[in-house]
Order: sequence, then C-alpha cells, then structure tokens
Amino acid sequence: MRIVITGGAGFIGSALALALQEKHEILLIDTMQSSTLLDNGNLKYLGHFKNLLNFQGELFVGNINKTQTLKQIKAFKPDIIFHKAAISDTTFYNQNAILRTNLNSFKNIIQLCQKLKAKLIYASSASVYGDAPSPQQVGKDENPKNPYAFSKLMMDKLAQKYASELHIVGLRYFNVYGKGEFFKGKTSSMILQLAHQILAGKNPILFEGSDTIYRDFVYIKDVVSANIAALTAKSGIYNVGSFQARSFQDIVDILQAKLKTNLTCKYIPNPFAKAYQFHTQAFCDENFAYRSQFGLEEGIDDYLPEIQRLFAKEVNA
Ligand SMILES: NC(=O)c1ccc[n+]([C@@H]2O[C@H](COP(=O)([O-])OP(=O)(O)OC[C@H]3O[C@@H](n4cnc5c(N)ncnc54)[C@H](O)[C@@H]3O)[C@@H](O)[C@H]2O)c1
Repeated sequence: MRIVITGGAGFIGSALALALQEKHEILLIDTMQSSTLLDNGNLKYLGHFKNLLNFQGELFVGNINKTQTLKQIKAFKPDIIFHKAAISDTTFYNQNAILRTNLNSFKNIIQLCQKLKAKLIYASSASVYGDAPSPQQVGKDENPKNPYAFSKLMMDKLAQKYASELHIVGLRYFNVYGKGEFFKGKTSSMILQLAHQILAGKNPILFEGSDTIYRDFVYIKDVVSANIAALTAKSGIYNVGSFQARSFQDIVDILQAKLKTNLTCKYIPNPFAKAYQFHTQAFCDENFAYRSQFGLEEGIDDYLPEIQRLFAKEVNA
C-alpha cells in the first residue's frame, strides 16, 4: 500500500509511520517544529526530527493549508491517508486560526481522497464530549468546551456527510500517552510530565481534587492498533480509549510505586477549570474491532524505560 500520514513527525503520526513502514510505502507530511508560537506562548508546530530517526520513508515539509502540499500528496497517489496534522493544543483559543488549520484543510483532504479513491482515517478527539456523562458515546451529548474541541466536532460532522461515498473513519482519541510525545513539551501527557518531576526528585504537581478528576488514558500502542482496525471498519466515528477511567492521583501513585519514591504531592488551583473535562471514559462500540491491550499500569510499565531514557538523554542532557 502507498500511505500518506499528515502530521507524520508528531507524536501519533510518527508512531504510526514507524509501525507501518516495513510493509508499506510511506510519505509523511509535516511543517516540522519552528520558532513560531501560538498566542498562548506554546510552540505552534510540534513535529520533531528525533521522532523520525528510524524512519525509512519519504518526508515532505509542508503546510496542509497550502495547495503545494496537497499537490505533493496527490502526486504520491496514496491508497490510504492517515490525517493527523492539526493544531493539537486545547489551550489555544484563536478560533480563526484553529478552524482554518483543523477544519478547512480537512475538507480539501476529503476531496482529494474522493479523487484518488483513497481511504481516509483522521484524528478526532474525546474533547468533543466536554462534560457529557461517562461513558461517552458517539452521537450522544457532545458539548465542546474550547475552539479545538469544536474544530474536531465540525470535522466529524463533515466526515458524516461523506460516509456513504468514501471509506472515512474518524478516531476520537482520549488522553494518549507513550513514546514520541516528549517534543510536545507542555502539552505532553501528565504521565510523562509527572514521571519527569518524580525522577528529578521534585514534589509532583497536581490540580486540587486530582483524586476525583478521571480520564480515560490510552497507550500509543493501542492507538496504532485502532488506526489499523480503522482500515477495515465501516465508515464512521469511533472512540479510541482504554475504556477505563483513572484519576490523575492514580498516575502519581502508580509512578511512585514503580520508581520506589514517596514524594509529597503539591496541589495547585486548576486554571482551566471552566473548560475542563472532569470525567472521561470511552464507551466501547461493538461494531469497531479495536480492543485496548493496555490498562494504565501496563501502559506505564511498557513506557517506563523510554521515560527514563528521555530523562537521561533529553531532560538532563
Ligand atoms: N495526543 C492526544 O492525546 C490526542 C487526543 C485527541 C486527539 N488527538 C489528535 O491526534 C492528532 C495527532 O496528535 P498528536 O498528539 O500526535 O499531536 P502533535 O502535535 O504531536 O502532532 C501534530 C503534527 O501536525 C503537525 N502540523 C500542525 N499543523 C500543521 C499544518 N498546518 N500542516 C502540516 N503539519 C502540521 C505538527 O508539526 C505535528 O507534528 C491531532 O489531530 C490531535 O488533535 C491527539
């Protein structure tokens, strides 16, 4: 198969590329990290060359908002497009900028897939549910709380219009963690951030009430499996989680048990409380052949050697 992965130097895109490269011809599209900042001071583009050190395929550095980039995708003649490129920062509130990148470019990619007769698997997000009751289910109580979440819900609505004429699958990722997320910096998972605080001997910092803030944390290897399952799924939108809700306090407790530390947590007020998700848990759709293999303990176990390598080679380098 010939495969294009947009956002291919980012966390999820690069993991997918590395998993698929042995059997397929791959072209990655990414802007790559630069000094460009979002209004909130975070980096705009998070793709990093170190995510691709073991990648054997082709990389085109381009912006999915640009016709030139779409031409490159078309010329490659892909059978499948995994569309992961996005402004993925949930704390960036510039509606115009986020919707132009996440939504407008998506329509162009859909139309390109129609012309190419290519399958399209794209990244949606559990953020679309907002404070909908758990377990969150596709088509039920979606209530986005920020422009990022709204952009993903609009992508899903657009995708549904094309579901009868195209193989188009949207994957609503819950909180993803694992190898390849380090270069997301402040927007990397709390699993990585808390582990690095603990390894540095610092008091782990949590929001007040973290023992009652629950999320569905899903490991990157499960996310790769879900993308592969999407290739043979019926067109539609599916949740990608671990199907378990665990608290942020659980993360610290698991990490401290594994790292044999007993640091006191420091609790701070939650600055995002107004637009925060306090309980997420994916509903498992029987019609989608993906099943999670990693609970939080298993995922952290598998990830820990990489967390420790990053701490030695990147944090303390
Ligand atoms: N990581 C999570 O927990 C999570 C949860 C829900 C949804 N998602 C979605 O999954 C996808 C991948 O997320 P990720 O965690 O790998 O994020 P990421 O930021 O690491 O990856 C996105 C990549 O897209 C690139 N990019 C951004 N704008 C671009 C543009 N205009 N043109 C070309 N490339 C561009 C970035 O450089 C980056 O490499 C995103 O669509 C994100 O919204 C992620």
